[in-house]
Amino acid sequence: MNLNGRTILITGGSAGIGLAFALKFAELGNEVIVTGRRQAVLNEVKAKYPKLHTIQSDVANPGQIAALATRVKADFPKLDVLMNNAGIMIHRNLTAPAADLAELTAEMNINVGGVIGMTSAFIDILTANKGTLINVSSALAFVPLPSAPIYSATKAAIHSYTQSLRFQLEETGVEVIELMPPAVKTDLTADLSGGSLTLITTDELVKQSFASLRAGAQEIRPGQAKQLAFLRRLAPDFINGQLWKASKKLVPVGV
Ligand SMILES: NC(=O)c1ccc[n+]([C@@H]2O[C@H](COP(=O)([O-])OP(=O)(O)OC[C@H]3O[C@@H](n4cnc5c(N)ncnc54)[C@H](OP(=O)(O)O)[C@@H]3O)[C@@H](O)[C@H]2O)c1
Repeated sequence: MNLNGRTILITGGSAGIGLAFALKFAELGNEVIVTGRRQAVLNEVKAKYPKLHTIQSDVANPGQIAALATRVKADFPKLDVLMNNAGIMIHRNLTAPAADLAELTAEMNINVGGVIGMTSAFIDILTANKGTLINVSSALAFVPLPSAPIYSATKAAIHSYTQSLRFQLEETGVEVIELMPPAVKTDLTADLSGGSLTLITTDELVKQSFASLRAGAQEIRPGQAKQLAFLRRLAPDFINGQLWKASKKLVPVGV
């Protein structure tokens, strides 16, 4: 991927991995727009990093996706990178009926529906500008973390969807990249800190990922993501069991 002179939209770019990528892309001289649901957080980001453009938008809301697409296409006609990064993870107890069935699919709506909706809304401008699409799935696309069963399923879905997308777009000039991070220290993984899983920093993730992006990789598996991909083939029962052991205590008691 060409890392200079791009105009880049990052969903969920107000924190964690999205913000770390936004700052690195900006440092390399690219124009970067970040989104998130909370305006107050976006205001803080704007105050701290005035070079970043911030726009409030919820990827789970089709009306907000449509409004974002209209605004970005008008204000940033050179947009040529979309990084579908926004995501949430919830540890869940599946052993009894959920109190709120609509809430039960929140991760599906954001992590899957958001990526599909955003990609569709921006595919015309990405094609016109021979752009790049970066979908952020996870190493958990290979092996589930059983305490976060729906989250893990969303990431497996994004892995599959991204492969199909790459084939469908092969003659359009749009490059399709999948970033599959291992456990990274962010708000999303606050519950995992101090447990048996090793977490890397966003700086480390950026370092490894940008080296792969620069080298032209299409599927980026930093750190332990590489090992999980290997182990799910070599010893699937073993690695599934290990992740269950590591996450069992994160399953909420009751529902
Ligand atoms: N951290 C890890 O270990 C890890 C590992 C593998 C993959 N990932 C993936 O990396 C991505 C980023 O995760 P992270 O760890 O950086 O999480 P994070 O620190 O919690 O940040 C999530 C970002 O997404 C935004 N967001 C959440 N829901 C949104 C929505 N519906 N619409 C728009 N923005 C939304 C948040 O802002 P608001 O809350 O204000 O909306 C925030 O900016 C996710 O897709 C995650 O699944 C993370």
